[in-house]
Amino acid sequence: MTDKKNYLIPTADGTSTLFLEEYDQAMHSDSGAYEESLLKHIYPSGVLDLDADIINVLDVGFGLGYNTLALIHEFKLKKKQSDLNIISLEKERHLIEFMEKIKFNDERDDIYNFIKQVYRSGKGSIENITLEILFGDGRNFLKKMERIKFDAVFQDPFSPSKNPEMWSVEYFACIKNLTAETAILTTYSSADQIRRAMLEAGLIIGSGPSVGRKREGTIASKSGIIEPLNDERISNIMDNPRSEPYRDRGLSMKREEILSERLDRIREGKKAVIR
Ligand SMILES: C[S@@+](CC[C@H](N)C(=O)[O-])C[C@H]1O[C@@H](n2cnc3c(N)ncnc32)[C@H](O)[C@@H]1O
Repeated sequence: MTDKKNYLIPTADGTSTLFLEEYDQAMHSDSGAYEESLLKHIYPSGVLDLDADIINVLDVGFGLGYNTLALIHEFKLKKKQSDLNIISLEKERHLIEFMEKIKFNDERDDIYNFIKQVYRSGKGSIENITLEILFGDGRNFLKKMERIKFDAVFQDPFSPSKNPEMWSVEYFACIKNLTAETAILTTYSSADQIRRAMLEAGLIIGSGPSVGRKREGTIASKSGIIEPLNDERISNIMDNPRSEPYRDRGLSMKREEILSERLDRIREGKKAVIR
């Protein structure tokens, strides 16, 4: 059955993205969906330059699985000898209907078949690569994860105002606890409020690449492995009243509550300035 309100859209690099009615948004930029995975996440994360026995990657917002596909494809091209463990978080179980329609007409199709199989079963391995997709609200899995230290985090939910539960101070604090010292988080967003949420969670932040017509993204880490934004840029973020970040007590609040409580704090802040 084809869902008319959710539909695939071609993008400039020949790959398709998916428009989801719930978010009133497409998953990728129209300049190139697959290209965005490479340029916004895989390359800037530096994860394939690591020389480690095991590389652990957290892929937040599996979507059509392009970040996972690009990671595995590049990993194979580099003939990496490490074990690669990918954990992907995804709320939806119905995306397979659209994944079935996607073809690359090159060696990526074999990898994508493996990924589709894992989307159905939840977990699978191919050579030295293990992929697990955790279905449900990703916050519930993050809260329960222990011991694992990710070497990279692909932060790729929908935009903050549509998907606030995945961009709060508490969310980034939780992610920080789950990352290795040298790990880099990559994201397409450069909104002041998400940068401030990362800063308040104790992360160091820097500029990520800009792709297509989009503004620069953000990279973050808990150590000095990335080049941080300079003091002036950090002050500009902190001084901007609109940078008030989302808060999510217990990582369990509803989207509407997260959004409306932030607006209340912004209004309160304005009153405090006027008085
Ligand atoms: C922009 S798309 C991701 C695109 C994807 N990275 C790719 O490579 O195709 C965002 C995804 O995040 C998922 N998502 C949104 N909120 C979530 C949540 N609370 N927990 C887990 N996944 C979530 C959406 O269902 C959607 O598939």
